[in-house]
Amino acid sequence: MEMTADKVWMDGELVDYEKATVHVLTHTLHYGYGAFEGIRAYKREDGSSHVFRLEEHLERLFESAHIIGLEIPFTIHELIDASVLTLQANRFAEGYLRPLVFLGSEAMGLGAMNNRVRVAIATWKWGAYLGEDGLKNGIRAKISSFGRLHPNVNMVKGKICGQYVNSVIAKREALKAGYDEAIMLDTNGHVSEGTGENLFMVKRGTIITAPFGSSILGGITRDTVLQLARDRGVAVHERLFTRDELYCADEVFLSGTAAEITPVREIDDRRVGTGRPGEVSRLISRDFFDIVRGSTSGHPEWRHGYTVHP
Ligand SMILES: Cc1ncc(COP(=O)(O)O)c(C=O)c1O
Repeated sequence: MEMTADKVWMDGELVDYEKATVHVLTHTLHYGYGAFEGIRAYKREDGSSHVFRLEEHLERLFESAHIIGLEIPFTIHELIDASVLTLQANRFAEGYLRPLVFLGSEAMGLGAMNNRVRVAIATWKWGAYLGEDGLKNGIRAKISSFGRLHPNVNMVKGKICGQYVNSVIAKREALKAGYDEAIMLDTNGHVSEGTGENLFMVKRGTIITAPFGSSILGGITRDTVLQLARDRGVAVHERLFTRDELYCADEVFLSGTAAEITPVREIDDRRVGTGRPGEVSRLISRDFFDIVRGSTSGHPEWRHGYTVHP
């Protein structure tokens, strides 16, 4: 993965990539008290560029910070402008954006009430997160031995830095066992989500996904999938379900900014449906990619246009 770029936006200004560094005593590096986002910018068939659902992503960043009691020293409009500026400064007609809010290195200890709240926005070119083949033909997943965050212990609606250890250990466990991704169950045994994706199953033409109020991140791609399904008149049911129901699904797919719409062809060595991406997964995926990369005029409100000067 090539992560270099010319510039990174840090605390209100663009700095050279090599200078976008922090001290080893940075508070968030030790305790994970911070929040982040993952956002994609796409180039469409007509050559125009847009950031997909930029406002919603930054709203979630502010909500994540609010949940943990961090005050971001910028307005959402300033961060919208900064996100676009970062892409433009790197002449990226498409790319992945990573805004990060973190506490500085002024003091250590859990409280550190007076540490400066810092904000960075980096960008890099990120291809298919679960691989081109996975995007097209589906991935192999494993139910994780690690449970998804309990809402009384962690703040499940926030993209909080330290909480991602839960996802990282599940992902590494799955990769070491030869799978592409882990599926997390909640602490009651209901299917929750992937390590960085929401999960959908399809049974007899109906899309079923864990309800927003359960232990899942409120994915912006999840919301997109639900909207696209409604646009197509596909029935959607948000409800809890167990792993055995998942094993018997006709289709399973994951959604996320990084993973986009990735079909799952196998779970715990059991074939999902025919073992090939199913009809509903393909329909939703086609509609999604038409909107982000294609030429459909649908859902212009999701595309925050910008220009790149060569
Ligand atoms: C745990 C988790 N679930 C779901 C998602 C998908 O969310 P989104 O579609 O907003 O990227 C992500 C990615 O941000 C995630 O980290």
